[in-house]
Amino acid sequence: MKNFISASQISRTELDDIFNLTDKIKKNKKKYSNLLKGYVISTLFFEPSTRTRLSFESAILRLGAGLISTENARENASAKKGESLEDTIRIVQGYSDMIVMRHFDNDAAERAVKVAKVPIINAGSGGGEHPTQALLDLYTIRQYKGKIDNIKIAILGDLKYGRTAHSLIKLLCLYNNITVYGFPVHGLELQENYKNFLKNNNVTYIECKSLNEIPYDVDFIYQTRVQKERLEDKNLEIEDIILNKENFKRFSEKTFLMHPLPRVNEISTDLDDDNRSIFFEQAHNGLYTRMALILTLMKDFYNNKWRKNERAY
Ligand code: NCD
Repeated sequence: MKNFISASQISRTELDDIFNLTDKIKKNKKKYSNLLKGYVISTLFFEPSTRTRLSFESAILRLGAGLISTENARENASAKKGESLEDTIRIVQGYSDMIVMRHFDNDAAERAVKVAKVPIINAGSGGGEHPTQALLDLYTIRQYKGKIDNIKIAILGDLKYGRTAHSLIKLLCLYNNITVYGFPVHGLELQENYKNFLKNNNVTYIECKSLNEIPYDVDFIYQTRVQKERLEDKNLEIEDIILNKENFKRFSEKTFLMHPLPRVNEISTDLDDDNRSIFFEQAHNGLYTRMALILTLMKDFYNNKWRKNERAY
C-alpha cells in the first residue's frame, strides 16, 4: 500500500498485519524509536483536530522521524492567499517523505494523491472519510472482543456527515456475520450509498428509531457527535441522542461504549466511570495504530527504492 486515503482500499490481511504490528508496538514502543531516523513527515491540517493530529505527530516522533507541521493550514498556510491544494501538496512533498493531511473537502485526499510523489494519509476529508480513525476503532473492537467477526454494533448520532462512521462501516464490511444497528439523529440518516455498500457486502443494516430497538446484548455502541459545522440546513431541528447512566442500564455488562471524540453532550459524564466506557482508551490506541500504519506505508514505499535493507522490522 502506498497511500491510505479510504477504508475501502485495505484488505483483511493488511489489517491483520497492521493490528499485529500495533500489538507489538504497544508492548514495547521504545524498540521502534529509531526506525524512521533521517526521514521527515509533514502534517497538513486544514480543519481543527486534537487527537488525530497530536497522535500522528507523537507517532512520527516516536518512530524517530522529523516532523514539519501546519496546524491551521486554512488560515496560516498559502491556501489563505489562494493557493490550490494541489500546489500546496506539490510543494510540501518536496520537503517531506510522507504527508498526513486533513481537509474540509470530501475529495481532497484523492486530489492530493493525483499530484503527490510521496505517500499520503487521509486524516479526515470533509464529511466523507476518516480511515485511520476506523483503524483504531477496529483495533479497539478486536482488543475487547478478541475478534471482529460475528459482532453486533450500534452506530448512533450523525450518520450522514460523520466521516468516522462511514470509514468504520467500510472496514466492518471485510468481516463475517456483522450486524449494524443505525440509530441516527433525525434528519442525519445514513445515505443510500453506504446502505448499498453494507448490503453488497452481506452486512445486515437495521435502522432504529429509539434506543429500545437496539438489542440488549449488542457488543458495541458507537456514539458520534452531530457535525454541526457541516449541516447544509442550518435550521434543522436537532434532537440529540444523549446516553447517560440511566438509559445505558438497559444494555448488557458486555456492551462497550465507544466514541471517536470529541464529545459535546451526547455521552453524559456520569458514564465516564462505567467499566463499559472505553472511549478514552480507544483514543489512546490511535497512537499505536498510527505508528503501525506509518511504518507499513513507509516500508512498502521506500524499502525497495532507496536505503534498501537499512531498516528491518
Ligand atoms: C472526529 C473527526 O474529526 O471526524 N474526530 C476525530 O478525529 N477523533 C469526530 C468528530 O469531529 O466528531
